[in-house]
Amino acid sequence: MIPDGIFLSLPKNQNCLYFYPSLKLELMNIIITGASKGIGAELVKTLCKHKGNQIVALARSVDGLRRLTAECQKLNSSCKIMTIEFDLVHFDFYPFILQKIETFFHRCDILVNNAGKLINRSFEKTEYQDFDDIYNVNVKGLYFFTQMILPIMNKGGHIVNISSMGGVTGSKKFPGLSAYSSSKAAVAVFTEALAEELKESEISVNCLALGGVHTDMFEKAFPGIKALQSTPQMAQFIADFAVTGNRFFNGKVIPVSQSVP
Ligand SMILES: NC(=O)c1ccc[n+]([C@@H]2O[C@H](COP(=O)([O-])OP(=O)(O)OC[C@H]3O[C@@H](n4cnc5c(N)ncnc54)[C@H](OP(=O)(O)O)[C@@H]3O)[C@@H](O)[C@H]2O)c1
Repeated sequence: MIPDGIFLSLPKNQNCLYFYPSLKLELMNIIITGASKGIGAELVKTLCKHKGNQIVALARSVDGLRRLTAECQKLNSSCKIMTIEFDLVHFDFYPFILQKIETFFHRCDILVNNAGKLINRSFEKTEYQDFDDIYNVNVKGLYFFTQMILPIMNKGGHIVNISSMGGVTGSKKFPGLSAYSSSKAAVAVFTEALAEELKESEISVNCLALGGVHTDMFEKAFPGIKALQSTPQMAQFIADFAVTGNRFFNGKVIPVSQSVP
């Protein structure tokens, strides 16, 4: 079931995300995948504080999306949000999802490919299904979701792919994460390749290779360890980068990490 659009608004005294004076303050249409919890949910909450933003938030969990909506309603003003309950691996439904998005807005300025899947399993014990589950979300889903959204991306638009420090060649690696980390390396190289292919189109593509952020996924990867970054801190960074980073970067894989893991 796909919930209908929900229209929210922000109190007048709400802090504004945008402290760059030259930033365009008109309406921005934003799509964020993996928005039901963790970094993605926090990113939606951060971006919806700006009254000019219209946000499509996708994930599988209805409860997570409902919670997100309620939290945004507490925070917000004129920002509009449409949540879409959707499993990124249901590739056959992509045309339907695009239609659904187009009932909300026709053009997209920012796509944040944030949804991700991690299974912590040793190389020897990793099964075909584990590998498919990870790669179908992290690589195939991200690739074809981007392909679906591309025709509605505005000139000057920004595609931000969320990868991991584990997907950066030469960074420290951890046991149990060979399928996950290699999938994130694919995201990084895909970013470089797509930016090259889109360079005439004035659409920028960048990749943020995140270090540890305290979420369910981090807990799965590193049980009992506390990540240095909180979700609000990382969400604020990603939000700022999504809005302004394409003025300075294209086709770049940017490590965003102060600690290991
Ligand atoms: N946390 C970290 O330390 C860290 C470090 C490096 C990179 N990252 C990356 O940052 C991104 C966000 O991670 P997180 O830590 O916030 O993870 P999280 O808390 O596990 O959240 C993952 C999000 O992805 C969504 N998702 C997973 N499978 C999906 C599917 N098949 N279809 C649609 N949505 C799906 C989940 O929603 P549903 O379950 O509702 O579908 C959830 O909203 C991921 O790409 C992750 O790899 C995280």
